[in-house]
Amino acid sequence: MRCCINPSILSADFVNLQAELERISTADAVHVDVMDNHFVPNLTLGLPIAQRIQAVSPIPLDAHLMIADPDRWAPAYADSGLASVTFHAEAATAPVKLARELRARGAKAGLALRPATPVEPYLDLLSEFDMILVMTVEPGFGGQSFLDVTLPKIRRTREAIDGSGAAVQLQVDGGVTEETIVRAAEAGANVFVAGSSVYGAPDPAQAIDRLRNRAAG
Ligand code: DX5
Ligand code: ZN
Repeated sequence: MRCCINPSILSADFVNLQAELERISTADAVHVDVMDNHFVPNLTLGLPIAQRIQAVSPIPLDAHLMIADPDRWAPAYADSGLASVTFHAEAATAPVKLARELRARGAKAGLALRPATPVEPYLDLLSEFDMILVMTVEPGFGGQSFLDVTLPKIRRTREAIDGSGAAVQLQVDGGVTEETIVRAAEAGANVFVAGSSVYGAPDPAQAIDRLRNRAAG
């Protein structure tokens, strides 16, 4: 199974984003955490900064929208050329309609689930999405510990994806380290977001390679 490591720029130096992108040259995509201090109790960046990152980044952008009312705000991220736009199931009014809208605008559509949100209501709708993001921490902050309680949900989602035959990526985000990535990969995840374990390393590009090797087993 192809494995992607998507570093989160939440843990990067926000004053030097362009240089921070160059430090993760071995990454598959850049994970951009958008928070609105409403859906989550933290505020990061919005569309204008995401557009600037998109303009200078040599690797594709993977937006994670932790915002209220994604039905209204998410399409503009797709219009701006971001490769993948993930919104939260808990925040969207019409997830399937929104995913179709994102795809029609040329982006991959991702559906994110908080740790306590069950995946079952979405298992019959997998073909409507390009990616399911199982949050492995409560969204809002980097540097938290991986929640092992989410592993059964990752396993169930993997079984359903394989059973459906749909080309859906299974992403995990939060607390991914060289240790926890092994459990997440065994449970069936194939796209791994890592913030502090990448940007906290002396050489982020090497940290990405090490994570990829660990995930591959
Ligand atoms: C949390 C964010 C994550 C976070 C990951 O709300 O969605 O992307 O930045 O950071 P680490 O890897 O430090 O948990
Ligand atoms: Zn994220």
